[in-house]
Amino acid sequence: MVSIEDKTIRRLVDAARKAADRAYAPYSRFRVGAALLCAGGETVTGANVENRSYGLTVCAERAAVFAAVAAGRRDFLALALFTPDASEPVTPCGACRQVLSEFANTDFPVYYTHDGAAVVRRTLGELYPFDSLHELGK
Ligand code: THU
Repeated sequence: MVSIEDKTIRRLVDAARKAADRAYAPYSRFRVGAALLCAGGETVTGANVENRSYGLTVCAERAAVFAAVAAGRRDFLALALFTPDASEPVTPCGACRQVLSEFANTDFPVYYTHDGAAVVRRTLGELYPFDSLHELGK
């Protein structure tokens, strides 16, 4: 596993915090910001974008992954999530865990916080275990 310096994690969380300000969440009023750290040190951010049909909403994590891949980046080292409207740190939803698993291994670190103070760290393997299709390379 690549070790990531504390200051890099703080920078990533800060990028996720700023991304949450750009969320479009008039229906849920629950803003989410995501920041992906790429191998060269760049960050790619995403925010949740809701729709009046509700089901077309895209989560912040998938917005970040899709923006990064479309920009030619797939070499992700870590993800930070910031949920300013939550009363406790929030993890990626199931759909986003699956999308992350397309581009990241089980030791991929996910950092999440709602206030930047206590940042929780979990690996993708902890959040999305028993991913046999991934293990089989399918
Ligand atoms: N949301 C995310 O962006 N990421 C998550 O991991 C959880 C849910 C968004 C979707 C919706 O716009 C709002 O949060 C409430 O569910």
